[in-house]
Amino acid sequence: MKVAVMGYGTIGSGVVEVLEVNKDLITARAGEPLEVKYILDLRDFPGDPYEDRIVHDYRTILQDKEVGVVVEAMGGVEPAYTFVKAMLEAGKHVTTSNKNLVAAKGAELIKIARERNINFMFEASVGGGIPIIRPLNTCLSAERIDEITGILNGTTNYMLTRMANEGVSFDSVLKDAQAKGYAEADPTADIEGYDPCRKIAILTSLVCGKQVDYEDIYTEGITKITAEDFAYAKAMDCSIKLLASSKRAGESFRCMVAPFMLSKNHPLCGVNDVFNAVFVKGNMLGDAMFYGSGAGKLQTASAVVADIVDMTKHAHVNIRIEWEPENMELVDYTESTNRFFVRTTSPIDAVETAFGVASGDMPGVVEYIEGVVAGEIGFTTSAMTEADFAKAAEQISVVNRVRLG
Ligand code: HSE
Repeated sequence: MKVAVMGYGTIGSGVVEVLEVNKDLITARAGEPLEVKYILDLRDFPGDPYEDRIVHDYRTILQDKEVGVVVEAMGGVEPAYTFVKAMLEAGKHVTTSNKNLVAAKGAELIKIARERNINFMFEASVGGGIPIIRPLNTCLSAERIDEITGILNGTTNYMLTRMANEGVSFDSVLKDAQAKGYAEADPTADIEGYDPCRKIAILTSLVCGKQVDYEDIYTEGITKITAEDFAYAKAMDCSIKLLASSKRAGESFRCMVAPFMLSKNHPLCGVNDVFNAVFVKGNMLGDAMFYGSGAGKLQTASAVVADIVDMTKHAHVNIRIEWEPENMELVDYTESTNRFFVRTTSPIDAVETAFGVASGDMPGVVEYIEGVVAGEIGFTTSAMTEADFAKAAEQISVVNRVRLG
């Protein structure tokens, strides 16, 4: 099998490295040798062992009938979409690590591959090296999946872990994460939650078999989380994690990306540093967890190479992926029910006038957390809709609020 790699950055060079380091076992598993024939990049790489394979025009790959599998590791929607679509239409299998491309164009690219009896795979686009796409599409194909909740972003999980352990501020931990190369120079997609938003949109699309638009998912990042919030979390024996969540609600789903305060016995609370984890609940299986390296050069490249092997083994067979272009209308997030932790400078009687006191079926304040930050109090609420919470919260002076997991 002749392979072309588009994009010779972190992931693309990782793919070449994995193919080289594990050459013998990969050949045995694929049933034939896998040879990198081209590497597409704008740059030249003088002195690189693969220097002679570098090309600058994607049409060189497109027009070479020998190339059977193409790896897309360029990132972004364009020109990745144009190149990938052309490769599929030319009958070449494609695997990508690019969640932006998959979230935006997944249904269409899957359809093109199916019509041509080839494959479009994207194991590395969610959870990096953690197997999650193939398990959902294959191992769990007998399940009705009722919930997926994950820590799907390594950068923010690293930052939140540092804030929890060291009590440091968001700004200082972001600077440090950038210096260490964990956070990108422009960290917006991570810290604003756009990256996990695309990932949960992909997972939900696979679960429901329809297109879930990431623009429809309510998304909050971690930029408003402070060292004081973590002081409260500590007092409550909790930590704060950025969760991407999708829960079945009748024929639809409630999806959300937001920071959540998790008690120490929550299965996702112990997922620290750059690790990711995905919790899945099936109606027959019950609970399952997938845990591991959600990012990283070789970890992500390993998942890409596994797709290459699978596509080589299924060179003339389309492995069906149920994800149609028809749109899935999500439940409006204001109807989602959550419990909340709130910090306020308002007095207790004002809090209780706004929220009430929880008792029996009556929603309201559950407990107060005092003495953590001077001049304010913290309190938790029972479960209430986002709309009801917003209505009550506007009657008091809120310093910050974090949902409770
Ligand atoms: N920026 C992403 C993360 C990379 O931190 O998880 C993997 O998608």
